[in-house]
Amino acid sequence: MARRILVTSALPNANGPIHLGHMLEHIQTDIWVRFQRMRGNQAIYVCADDAHGTATMIRAEAEGLTPEALIDEMRVAHLEDFRGFGISYDNYYSTHSEENRFFAEQIYQRLDKRGLIFKESVEQLFDPEKELFLADRFVVGNCPRCSAPDQYGDNCEKCGATYNATELVNPRSVYSGAQPVLKSSEHYFFDLPQYTDFLKKWTRTDAVQPEVSNKLAEWLEEGLRAWDISRDAPYFGFLIPGTTDKYFYVWMDAPIGYMASFKNYCSHNNEVVFEDFWAPDSTAEVHHFIGKDIVNFHALFWPAQLHAADYRTPTRIHTHGFITVDGTKMSKSRGTFIMAADYLKQLDPQYLRYYYAAKLNGTVDDIDINLEDFVQRVNSDLVGKVVNIASRTAGFIHKQFDGKLAADIHNMDLWETFTKKSAAIADLYEADDFGKAVREITALADLANQYIAGHEPWNMVKNPDQRELLHLVCTQAINLFRVLAIYLKPILPQMAEKTEAFLNVEPLTWAEAQAPLLGQPINKFKAMLQRMQSKDVDRLVEQSREEAPAQSSPAQDQESDGKFITIDDFAKVELRVAKIVKAELVEGADKLLQLTLDVGDHERRVFSGIREAYDPADLVGRLTVLVANLAPRKMRFGVSEGMVLAAGPGGSNIFLLSPDSGAEPGMLVS
Ligand code: MSP
Ligand code: ZN
Repeated sequence: MARRILVTSALPNANGPIHLGHMLEHIQTDIWVRFQRMRGNQAIYVCADDAHGTATMIRAEAEGLTPEALIDEMRVAHLEDFRGFGISYDNYYSTHSEENRFFAEQIYQRLDKRGLIFKESVEQLFDPEKELFLADRFVVGNCPRCSAPDQYGDNCEKCGATYNATELVNPRSVYSGAQPVLKSSEHYFFDLPQYTDFLKKWTRTDAVQPEVSNKLAEWLEEGLRAWDISRDAPYFGFLIPGTTDKYFYVWMDAPIGYMASFKNYCSHNNEVVFEDFWAPDSTAEVHHFIGKDIVNFHALFWPAQLHAADYRTPTRIHTHGFITVDGTKMSKSRGTFIMAADYLKQLDPQYLRYYYAAKLNGTVDDIDINLEDFVQRVNSDLVGKVVNIASRTAGFIHKQFDGKLAADIHNMDLWETFTKKSAAIADLYEADDFGKAVREITALADLANQYIAGHEPWNMVKNPDQRELLHLVCTQAINLFRVLAIYLKPILPQMAEKTEAFLNVEPLTWAEAQAPLLGQPINKFKAMLQRMQSKDVDRLVEQSREEAPAQSSPAQDQESDGKFITIDDFAKVELRVAKIVKAELVEGADKLLQLTLDVGDHERRVFSGIREAYDPADLVGRLTVLVANLAPRKMRFGVSEGMVLAAGPGGSNIFLLSPDSGAEPGMLVS
């Protein structure tokens, strides 16, 4: 029987644009959903913008908009990005909706009735100018231990001390710069520890991946604490019933937004019944796709909330890792913090869908976009192997045989090798191991190409005796290509659509891979995918570097963003003493100098943005510090082989770091 499956991606924050990190999640979800639909299952895919919270309120204010106007604008922009990548939601809603208010209140009231809500006074820093309470990341000041300036209210980036925001010396509000005052207020708590046993069991089921389950077990062993679900006015969100100045914390109503979006979908699709999916005894499935940073909300708070409020719990939480680019965290200054909209201006969305699929393996490991590998993989696998099968053979069908396929399969063994892979590839899709599915598919493509190369249709066409064989070989090739297009359809729906048009057939389903297409007319072949150009990638990186603000403000940062690196992370950075042997102006770049560095046993060329601060002649002979193992970076003016260290905000206000005299070029800095 067909499965009934509700699928979600985490709700993107309404206060910022969609970037390639979000896209990983939505592409992953979309592939899984499209696969389910191709199998004949009922898969309903809903999402929404996560509208609430202080960040939305502050950003709206900064832009002179009401929060409602801001979230409407953002939702339109987000949807456009997701459409551009072919994400096939059945509904994309907002957490700021009447449905969501209804369910948030209902769930809260059910928890309250069960005695799971209590109130407690909490003392917190308060911005007297803005008149709002400040979360830890919204207070900065001097570290109470080492006095480093400009540290956040939870820990010090300089010395690693952790402390309470109230301990900061000379604290200031990030919003107004005002000195915060201590103020206490009453908060509402969900008594999560009562669900410890329930969660210990639930997190050991196959609802979560084993490595996630282990992480959760650690947290559960440490002991759960009651969850603070309220925030004081002013706040952008829903009022807690029975209060006039207490709002639901954004994370309280965000996952409920999944239900609300689905409810809204049901109201337009009468044949789908909300309770069928959410009643405690539902036989339908609920699948959430999320990033590893929000596991606690989805695998602890959310199932407890649902269970306590008499709803079913999720069938599976599919957790993925984080995107890195060329081995490091996406970075605005490196131009690798790439917005979805910018990507779409330069590159075909299918490239990224394919590359992400090739890298996803169903674990929480981070996923690296290596920009060179990206171009190479797409061109060699997709264009060079898969599309090539059709482009090398379709012309003969068209020109020699009136566009009609032969009536028989020529090589039955090869055909069956292809069709028999169906079950194994389906299992891989089901298990989120798209990478392995892609490897299986490209291995088949290799076989198809060998088959074509073995018969050389381009020579056969010269020999009238081989006419029939030519027809059979090309027909076989087109059929092999068709099977690959089916297996790849969840990943490359646009290519599948073009294949359907080319083959003159209805939308391809998974099961159709089993039967060949024979004796039928097909259409003229048109290229389905262009080769990827690395200059387009360069342009995208250049553009992302130029557009991005140099640093994100704390208000834009996620609360969950990690601020620490470990000593091992630091040890990865190779710093060396370098002597500047040449410093030259760079034509067309009024901020850059080209430096030639003596690094002991060899020379390096780097570009450095210190032109406004230094006269090149003054630099020659000086010692400085080089980041020696930074991946070479292609810039408009040439390749930069590392980076020299300098302090200061930039422009003419920048100071090159130099070791004391006596240091030798090439020495390791540690
Ligand atoms: N609004 C919350 C989610 C609420 S769900 C009920 C939120 N929003 S977010 O915009 O910060 O992130 C949305 C999703 O994108 C999360 O699953 C997050 O893990 C994912 N990603 C954000 N940056 C990412 C990368 N750099 N890499 C991969 N995924 C990342 O959290
Ligand atoms: Zn410190």
